[in-house]
Amino acid sequence: FSAFLTDNFGRRHSYLRISLTEKCNLRCQYCMPEEGVKLTPRAQLLSTSEVLTVAQLFVREGVEKIRLTGGEPLIRPDVLDIISEWGRSLRKLEGLKTIAVTTNGMNLARLLPKLKDAGLDLLNISLDTLVPAKFEFIVRRKRLETMLGIDRVGELREAGSWEAGTDGLDRLRKESSSTQEKAQKPPTAGFHKVMEGIDKAIEMGFNPIKVNCVVMRGLNEDELLDFVALTEKKPLEVRFIEYMPFDGNKWNFKKMVSYQEMLDRIRQQWPSLEKLPLGKTDTAKTFKVPGFQGQVGFITSMSDHFCGSCNRLRITADGNLKVCLFGNTEVSLRDVLRSGVSDRELLEIIGAAVGRKKKQHAGMFSISQMKNRPMILIGGHHTPK
Ligand code: GTP
Ligand code: 5AD
Ligand code: SF4
Repeated sequence: FSAFLTDNFGRRHSYLRISLTEKCNLRCQYCMPEEGVKLTPRAQLLSTSEVLTVAQLFVREGVEKIRLTGGEPLIRPDVLDIISEWGRSLRKLEGLKTIAVTTNGMNLARLLPKLKDAGLDLLNISLDTLVPAKFEFIVRRKRLETMLGIDRVGELREAGSWEAGTDGLDRLRKESSSTQEKAQKPPTAGFHKVMEGIDKAIEMGFNPIKVNCVVMRGLNEDELLDFVALTEKKPLEVRFIEYMPFDGNKWNFKKMVSYQEMLDRIRQQWPSLEKLPLGKTDTAKTFKVPGFQGQVGFITSMSDHFCGSCNRLRITADGNLKVCLFGNTEVSLRDVLRSGVSDRELLEIIGAAVGRKKKQHAGMFSISQMKNRPMILIGGHHTPK
C-alpha cells in the first residue's frame, strides 16, 4: 500500500470522498449556516477532467472506494459521466472496487436508472424526519409559517425546541397574516420525493441502502422509534448520527443526543435489539431487531470517535485535500495540478499532508470552538444555489 497514503499511525487511506459541488437544492439547518455560504467561483472548482485525474492518482496508490458528496452531488451535470468513466477506466484497470454517493435524495427517483447504468454501487440517503412538514422545516426550503402553519411554529418555540431557524420567527409571526392562506396547504413534496427515491432504490436492488438521520434534541429525537420501525418492512440501514459541530450550524452540547441515550430508548421498546459485528473501518455501530428486514446503526463521532480506524481522505469541491473532517489544515491540489507538476510531485504533497494527520480529533468541545468549514463546504452532501 502506498506510503503516501499511510499516515504516522499506520492508517491506510483507501477511501476517498470527493465533493462535486458546493451547491445544494436544500438548506439543512445542521449543514448550512442560515445566511448561506459564499460560493467559490466556478473556475476555481475542480473540472470534470481534474476530478478524473485526481481520482486516478489516488486509485493507483491504493484507494478502493470513492464516495461522491457535495453539496448535493446529484445536481452536478457531469455526475453520470464521472461515474461511468470510473467504471470504464479505474474499476477494470486500476483496482477501484466501490463507487458510492451520499445524496439528499431529492433527484434520486429520476436519476436512479441512469446512476445504475453508469455503475454506481452504493447509496447513502439523508433523511432526518418522517414527518413531511418537519422535513420542510429542517431543510428550510420554504418559509416556516407556510410549512408548518403559524400555530405550529409557535408551539415549537414554546417547547423551546429548536433555536436554529427561529431567529426570524418573530418577523415571520408578524408577516404571518399574509401567508396564512398558503399555510392551509403545506408544500410537503420534498419529503415524498425522498421517500420515492428510497423505495425505488430498494426496488432496483441497491444493497445496502443507508439512510442517514442526524438526531437533534427537540427536533427529531421523538422519531427514533419510528425510524427503527421503518426497518421492519424495508431493507434499509437507518443510521442515527450524533449531531456534530461545524461552522455556522449553531451546535451546542444540549442539542446533541448521544449514542447511549438513543440506544437506551430503542432498547426500551425492543429489548431484543442485537448488536452486529463491527467492520474494521465502519463509521457506524450496527444493530438489528430480530425479524426486521433492515438494521439500525449509530455514528458516534462525538461520544465515541472512531478515528483510530479512519481510512478516509476528502477532496473539497474547490480542490483542497482535507485529511480529517474535523481538521482545518488543507492543501490545495487544484493549484498544484494547474501548475503542471508531475504525478510524483503531486503525490509528495499529498503524502506530506497525510503525514500531518492527527491521531484523533480534538474532542467535541474543542471542535465546536475551532474554525472549520460549514459541512456543506466539506462534503456533507449537501450550499445554497
Ligand atoms: P459508508 O461508506 O457507508 O461507511 O459511509 P459514511 O458513513 O462514511 O458516509 P456518509 O456520507 O453517509 O456520512 C455519514 C456520517 O458519517 C456523516 O455525518 C459524516 O459526517 C460522518 N462521517 C463520514 N466520514 C467521517 C469521518 O471521516 N469522520 C467522522 N468523524 N465522521 C465521518
Ligand atoms: N452532524 C452530523 N451529520 C451531518 N451531516 C451534515 N451535517 C451534519 C452534522 N452537523 C450529514 C448529512 C449527510 C452526511 C454526509 O453528513 O446528513 O447524511
Ligand atoms: Fe441538507 Fe445535505 Fe443540502 Fe447540507 S448538503 S443542506 S445536509 S441536503
